[in-house]
Amino acid sequence: MQTVRLIVNGNAVGATAEAETPLLDILRNHLGLMGTKFGCGLEQCGCCMVLVDGKPEKSCGKPLSAVAGKEIVTIEGLGTPERPHPLQQAFIDEQAGQCGYCLPGILISAKALLDRNASPSRKEIAEALDDNICRCGSHIRILRAVECAARLLRDGDAR
Ligand code: FES
Ligand code: FES
Repeated sequence: MQTVRLIVNGNAVGATAEAETPLLDILRNHLGLMGTKFGCGLEQCGCCMVLVDGKPEKSCGKPLSAVAGKEIVTIEGLGTPERPHPLQQAFIDEQAGQCGYCLPGILISAKALLDRNASPSRKEIAEALDDNICRCGSHIRILRAVECAARLLRDGDAR
């Protein structure tokens, strides 16, 4: 067992677990952040995507020991029901998704994209979401929602 300190959604936290415990397990079962989803557990579906120092990473394959001192952002860190992030607002407006299980990971990948590219083309959005699987086939609405969020952000909603 080891205790690792990290920053999650702006808060300094400590987690005590085996060094190889997946970050996903730490987030959900130690910190109670249930927004990040378990899909395949094999780094193949993108459900468990979080930002690690600003880069999208699959938390099911990230051992606790690898995130010591890192800054993690989960879907809970994007916005709140009262003050949603433009991405969250756009996904609601576009009704982008059916079951919603893939969406936390997709929004995290999309946030990483929009943080580095304010005006991505549809092709660039599709490429940025290439590691995220949506089994409901909501791809077109998801692409539209990311374009909509980019517009909202460009218009000054810089949450
Ligand atoms: S649960 Fe991590 S990629 Fe599928
Ligand atoms: S909305 Fe169901 S998996 Fe994407």
